[in-house]
Amino acid sequence: MIKNDSSLRTRVAIIGGGPSGLLLSQLLERAGVETVVLERKSREYVLSRIRAGVLESGMVELLREAGAGQRMDREGLVHEGIYLARANRGFRIDFRRHTGNSVMVYGQTELTRDLYQARDAMDANIVHEVEQVEIHAAQSPNPYVSFRHDGRECRLESDFVVGCDGFHGISRKTIDSSVLREFERVYPFGWLGLLSQTPPVSEELIYASHERGFALCSMRNPQLSRYYLQVPLEDSVEKWSDEAFWDELKRRIPAEAAETLVTGASIEKSIAPLRSFVAEPMRWGRLFLCGDAAHIVPPTGAKGLNLAASDVFYLSQALLRHYHDNDDSGLDDYSATALARVWKAERFSWSMTRLLHRFPEQSEFDLRMQQAEIDYLETSVAAQASLAENYVGLPY
Ligand code: FAD
Ligand code: PHB
Repeated sequence: MIKNDSSLRTRVAIIGGGPSGLLLSQLLERAGVETVVLERKSREYVLSRIRAGVLESGMVELLREAGAGQRMDREGLVHEGIYLARANRGFRIDFRRHTGNSVMVYGQTELTRDLYQARDAMDANIVHEVEQVEIHAAQSPNPYVSFRHDGRECRLESDFVVGCDGFHGISRKTIDSSVLREFERVYPFGWLGLLSQTPPVSEELIYASHERGFALCSMRNPQLSRYYLQVPLEDSVEKWSDEAFWDELKRRIPAEAAETLVTGASIEKSIAPLRSFVAEPMRWGRLFLCGDAAHIVPPTGAKGLNLAASDVFYLSQALLRHYHDNDDSGLDDYSATALARVWKAERFSWSMTRLLHRFPEQSEFDLRMQQAEIDYLETSVAAQASLAENYVGLPY
């Protein structure tokens, strides 16, 4: 709801009410900087999207700092390792041993719900179901956003505009094409995900490489499991009955796990394409990009949501320095600082994807290289430490 008339003023206009936009709004407002969030969809819709499940410790800390971590601390599952499996063999990567650190399994849906609650408690200004959002005068000291809401033409004036509107949003597209550079790799397969009210097959995630394709066993809580299968891009969800999904999953994970797998009706089933993408720069005048608006990773490294959090961390700190200390150095460095971390997570996600999936054009040589790399990981402490360091998250 728009509180006053159809013309508004705020300090930071945030486009997108997903995890990046909500977290940024929460961190800024707790430090006394006013924001308005514009979201294209309804709250119910945003909360119906089943997406990420693994949080790095940096993101866990940031959610606590934002005052939105209580339920996560009660209900989230601390994981100190993952299993990598190939055909019938599996081995564990021990995060605690190699990094002294861990990750938290807690669904993006729950985290977003917690952020909405935290924002509600502070009487946040979040406008849902906005249409025709456009950013204007981003290169001037007085940028503004125009949009339609409830049939009215509205204008939001601000000091800064932050695009947290995901990969398909309008913010990135506002940056002049002579400045914007985009780097992309599209993978020749997708992930079919299934959520079911069943106990997880394993206490820790299993990443399985198999000749029929990759499979992942994940979870949301002790009664809710999330599984994924690599599928051809042409496949549709309708092609995959629950029974076909479970049969295929059992073929791709080690027999010991397949025998104890509890199956059940799917609550949700969807196919996501896999993509690596980076847009540079992440700042254009007074417009800043955070999260999926600027970059996408294939989900194999569990990095997408976590990268959104590190962007929000850098940008919130920079904006607070601007408002509290009259210091713009953080804003000037934002794009370079965020991108340095983004590219490392891109590399990790790309290497995990390349390691564990079957590619249509793969030669016998390529297959042997994959097998040798997995063998190396199984036997080398240095290789395991490197995977663990990246998986738990590089420092902010
Ligand atoms: P989004 O979540 O996309 O939010 C953007 C918001 O902006 C949306 O609510 C959208 O409605 C709104 N919007 C769009 N356009 C406009 C507009 N014009 N005006 C106003 N609002 C607009 N990441 C991990 O870290 N770990 C994982 O385990 C993981 N697993 C994943 C599994 C799957 C199957 C998928 C698909 C993704 C996964 N990710 C994972 C990635 C993660 O979900 C995203 O990186 C994360 O959602 C990014 O958050 P965001 O707020 O930047 O963007
Ligand atoms: C998930 O639980 O949705 C999940 C976990 C790990 C990944 C990707 C997705 O790498």
